[in-house]
Amino acid sequence: MNASTATDTLGTALVTGATSGIGRAAALRLAGDGWEVVVHGRNAGRGAEVVAAIEAEGGRARFVRADLSNLEDLNHLAEEVGEVDVLVNNAGASWFGPTTDLDSPGFDSLFEGNVRSAYFLVAALVPAMAKKGRGSIINMASMAGIVGLAGGAAYGATKAAMASMTRSWAAEFSPRGVRVNAVAPGPVYSTPEQTVRIDGLGKTTLLGRGAQPDEIAEVIAFLASDKASYMTGSVVVVDGGRTAI
Ligand SMILES: NC(=O)c1ccc[n+]([C@@H]2O[C@H](COP(=O)([O-])OP(=O)(O)OC[C@H]3O[C@@H](n4cnc5c(N)ncnc54)[C@H](OP(=O)(O)O)[C@@H]3O)[C@@H](O)[C@H]2O)c1
Repeated sequence: MNASTATDTLGTALVTGATSGIGRAAALRLAGDGWEVVVHGRNAGRGAEVVAAIEAEGGRARFVRADLSNLEDLNHLAEEVGEVDVLVNNAGASWFGPTTDLDSPGFDSLFEGNVRSAYFLVAALVPAMAKKGRGSIINMASMAGIVGLAGGAAYGATKAAMASMTRSWAAEFSPRGVRVNAVAPGPVYSTPEQTVRIDGLGKTTLLGRGAQPDEIAEVIAFLASDKASYMTGSVVVVDGGRTAI
């Protein structure tokens, strides 16, 4: 990892949901590239661990706690971080099960945490990016928003919404220099509780396995960087070929 100092960072990258899984891997990867990373999540203990891991590698990071289902918390996060150059809308939760088992509060909570959170974070942070004339927003979509998965109707709809917002935001903000793209991962090993489900879904991919979080973080880091300077409005599938078939 490259060591960064106060004067040589590429800028500030906010990664939501960076206390676990894909977000944690993305925060480490972006810090390694030279971004000063704002590690966001709800669990302060795991947030401190991610910051310590970044600093141990010579990177720069700080933790900000916020429950993104709560708009007051969300606004507090936006105020705390100020201006950002990269926004990774990664925070989210999944729910799989029979449609008849999901009640109305559960349905609303999926959309509040996965969709409304990203919408209002972009609304809060994009004006400064557009004013500067540059920035990169990366939204976390999913293969579950592209193909039909039994038990995934509500979760898949939140992820299809992320892909849709990506295209609309690209149309709205790219003329002012802000690129907006999404990553649509296949099954990824994040929390241990999901291992059996990821094993099963992984077998349905062309590569015959689930992904490690680093394999998704690599693509996020690419989209954040100037190497992706001609990419906007894309939903990049990183799913072992699952949606190709
Ligand atoms: N794993 C997969 O197979 C897969 C596949 C496709 C897409 N995705 C998407 O990728 C993203 C990350 O998934 P993951 O598997 O890495 O999940 P994870 O390990 O469960 O981590 C989720 C992260 O989001 C945060 N978070 C969730 N809801 C939040 C809320 N309301 N407010 C604030 N923070 C919240 C969590 O914070 P705390 O833990 O600190 O509370 C945690 O940092 C999600 O959007 C998910 O839908 C995952």
